[in-house]
Amino acid sequence: MAQPISSSPPSAAPLRFTELAGQSILVTGGTRGIGLGIVRLLAGAGARLMITGRKSHRLERVAEELRTVGADFRTCVSDVADRDASRRLADATLEAFGAIDGLVANAQSYIPVTPLADITPENFDLVLDTGPRGTLWLMQAVLPAMQARGRGRIITFGSSMGQTGAPGYGPYAAAKEAVRSLTRTAAREWGRFGITVNCICPASAAHRMPVAKEGALSPEEEARARAFAAMYADHPLGRDGDPLADIAPVVAFLLSDASQYLTGQTFMVDGGGILRS
Ligand SMILES: NC(=O)c1ccc[n+]([C@@H]2O[C@H](COP(=O)([O-])OP(=O)(O)OC[C@H]3O[C@@H](n4cnc5c(N)ncnc54)[C@H](OP(=O)(O)O)[C@@H]3O)[C@@H](O)[C@H]2O)c1
Repeated sequence: MAQPISSSPPSAAPLRFTELAGQSILVTGGTRGIGLGIVRLLAGAGARLMITGRKSHRLERVAEELRTVGADFRTCVSDVADRDASRRLADATLEAFGAIDGLVANAQSYIPVTPLADITPENFDLVLDTGPRGTLWLMQAVLPAMQARGRGRIITFGSSMGQTGAPGYGPYAAAKEAVRSLTRTAAREWGRFGITVNCICPASAAHRMPVAKEGALSPEEEARARAFAAMYADHPLGRDGDPLADIAPVVAFLLSDASQYLTGQTFMVDGGGILRS
């Protein structure tokens, strides 16, 4: 049945807009790159964090850093491809913090740059399992807790490569477009529960670029380095994004009440890079 149209915001409580202090947020893949920048910013904003990755030594490195700043956090080794593990992760987050205010579904595994003609089923499975499938398992896992409270923020991760058809990145690009599509469906299905679902397409690739050790780069590394140089040759801002200064603030905005009337959208957090295509 059609719902009445109302101009009232979902909560009568005074909005705290960008305030994230005390909010319980699950960040997958928080040990490196963009995820680590997000973890650093949210910890500084006083959020309570459940941080995941596959490698315990990387999680321990992040934990050491966060302890020095007095952050309230937990870490958990968890593979986003594992649906049961995502349910256990949501349970552990609820047990630790009593709520799940936000999900930042950042983790994604990659495959080497490969022309479509050479893609194997294993290549495709890896990016689909850790991209759209992993994102969906996480969204399902946090849904009951968010639905029960009548509020939730879910941030998913797409890529401009999905929109530009980047050669050599076929399965990854397809996986990221599937994430954007799931984002729109979740936004429509869960909006009435007070849950917003938005996708960001970030650009912060410097940490992924190969550094020559003991001489020359491999052909695959050289191809990635060339693609990176080409990417920034005709870029509006002329520079790579910084995980902490450029990407994380947009995630924080989407987690906050300031974004409560946005859902189902994709935000290109790429310094205008998409305009080159
Ligand atoms: N970097 C860019 O310019 C760019 C551009 C467009 C989109 N994106 C998207 O932004 C997100 C972050 O990218 P990034 O470049 O920061 O990635 P990254 O540097 O490779 O870091 C990936 C993070 O995810 C974790 N991870 C990888 N596979 C996992 C799995 N199966 N289960 C759990 N954790 C896993 C990694 O930790 P462990 O190694 O410990 O597992 C790491 O913490 C991704 O969704 C990516 O597709 C990035």
